[in-house]
Amino acid sequence: MRDTCAMMLIGLLLLSGCQGRSQASEPVLEAGRRLWDENRCWFCHGNDLRGTYPIADQIAQRSDEELRAWIHNARALKPGTIMPTYDFLSREELDQLVSYLRHLARSGS
Ligand code: HEC
Repeated sequence: MRDTCAMMLIGLLLLSGCQGRSQASEPVLEAGRRLWDENRCWFCHGNDLRGTYPIADQIAQRSDEELRAWIHNARALKPGTIMPTYDFLSREELDQLVSYLRHLARSGS
């Protein structure tokens, strides 16, 4: 009986340890994922960033600043691009999207 209790305690400690670690950046990634879905970025880029217009390789080459500026107003940087303008997104939302993009780029490679 004592052993069973000890095992359960260790199990609980392990479980809470795992949760503690993954929670750190999750709210940001979760918010980024929602923005990615709602704004249909996946429609052109695919959830693996290798869709119709692949951008997996670009992500690593750009700074956060460059990615924010591009998403905010791609047409200012490349007139005539078919990528829509997302100038209604706040600075915080742009940061969330950039974090999520980097997450997708990492998990896809
Ligand atoms: C209608 C299609 C379309 C949608 C929707 C779209 N994009 Fe794009 N995006 C493009 C195209 C096309 C390019 C490549 C640039 C070009 O050739 O005009 C691009 C390029 C990019 C790049 C690379 C920029 C660089 O520096 O090279 C990023 C990052 C990006 N898109 C992010 C996003 C995000 C985030 C969203 C959603 C908020 C989004 N895109 C929605 C079409 C789209």
